Amino acid sequence: MAKFREIPVNNITRNPFKLIGEDWGLVSAAKDDGCNMMTISWGGVGIMWNKPVAFTFIRPQRYTFSLLENEEYFALSFFDEKYRDALSFCGSKSGRDFDKVKETGLTALYDEKAPYFEEAKLVLICRKLYGQALGEEHITDPDSVLKFYNGDDYHKMFISEIVKVLKNED
Ligand SMILES: Cc1cc2nc3c(=O)[nH]c(=O)nc-3n(C[C@H](O)[C@H](O)[C@H](O)COP(=O)(O)O)c2cc1C
Repeated sequence: MAKFREIPVNNITRNPFKLIGEDWGLVSAAKDDGCNMMTISWGGVGIMWNKPVAFTFIRPQRYTFSLLENEEYFALSFFDEKYRDALSFCGSKSGRDFDKVKETGLTALYDEKAPYFEEAKLVLICRKLYGQALGEEHITDPDSVLKFYNGDDYHKMFISEIVKVLKNED
């Protein structure tokens, strides 16, 4: 059984560029009969409205997107390298077609109604504060529009308060 300890947000020592961009994370949210999760490697952490926040960018076609729209809370979970295969699975298969908890063998735990994973090393429990879809008219770098979008798949940015940080001390 993992030993999670709540730590202050300022005690996070992991480099967010590596943590999010290279190690990747799972965004997880509750659904009627459990939870679903998807891999992310874009996003960030910082301060907004004097609160510690996480920035996530989710495309509307993701199954997780529909869950995030309904839920007030979600979690961001970060893992050791040995879970790379599970993260690859969660980043290439949809919860519409698979029970990803079952398929990956990860163990869902719940906090503030947000599901997270016993196998994670670091967990951010997040409460949504703001959500807005990116739009072509606001993107000042035309190359990014061409490179990343087809016209109807602009990410929605969620700014969410980090209400709890859990560190796995196992
Ligand atoms: C490394 C990696 C990073 C990803 N980052 C994001 C991301 O930041 N935002 C996003 O919308 N999709 C991202 N994806 C794609 C989703 O994880 C993927 O489409 C997933 O299958 C969606 O699952 P769902 O339909 O169960 O929500 C990423 C995929 C991988 C492999």
